[in-house]
Amino acid sequence: MNDNTTPLSAQKYDAEINKTIPYYSEFYDQTMDVAAQCGFSEIRWLDLGCGTGTLEEKALARFPGARFVLVDPSGKMLEQAKAKLQAYEIEYVLEKSTDIRFEDEFEVVTAIQSHHYMHEEERELAVKNVYRALKKGGIFICFENVVPDDPAVKQQELLRWGRYQQRRGKTAEEALAHNARCGVNYFPLTVPQHVELLKKTGFSAVHVFWISYMQMGIYAIK
Ligand SMILES: C[S@@+](CC[C@H](N)C(=O)[O-])C[C@H]1O[C@@H](n2cnc3c(N)ncnc32)[C@H](O)[C@@H]1O
Repeated sequence: MNDNTTPLSAQKYDAEINKTIPYYSEFYDQTMDVAAQCGFSEIRWLDLGCGTGTLEEKALARFPGARFVLVDPSGKMLEQAKAKLQAYEIEYVLEKSTDIRFEDEFEVVTAIQSHHYMHEEERELAVKNVYRALKKGGIFICFENVVPDDPAVKQQELLRWGRYQQRRGKTAEEALAHNARCGVNYFPLTVPQHVELLKKTGFSAVHVFWISYMQMGIYAIK
């Protein structure tokens, strides 16, 4: 049994993730760019499924005054984040996004590759919790695995993603094993399903700002 929902141990996560997800570091840059565009004078920032805290390491350099709350249900991931961010004053919460109880507290909420592990009902609850946690005018920025709605295109895209993983050093078997996780270990939405979920939760504006391979960046304003 792994120490978190990804196939990588918390300790190996940073070294290995780029072999699996194309353009991963760009997710952080795009997330920070979207947050910067909002022009908040002060930022309280909630990161759900923070993993090893890489986003915060980068974001604290760009937004030195931002106050972070990091949430993750994996104690091992939080350990890695605490070690990486020991120079900073940060609040850590060992919880799932379905269990958070913040209300009108944050300008920014992020969930980077962390919400696709939830089934439909849990995911809806998590998005409601995000909405409640945000202040009016606050922004939810999310990256997730997505699937095309056409099954043949989905198969083609999984193969293409597998070829990326092999170029980054995985064997054909390892790439296939990873792709077999889709719909079994994680539960991606289509892009329209994701937009619909955010709108029905009450967000006033929703925008897909990134899409590549089988990952999407989307933001929503409360
Ligand atoms: C692929 S990692 C991403 C970590 C980090 N956000 C990053 O960008 O590197 C997924 C993270 O989501 C966390 N996670 C899994 N299920 C979750 C849930 N229900 N609520 C919040 N986080 C969850 C895992 O423990 C893991 O740390």
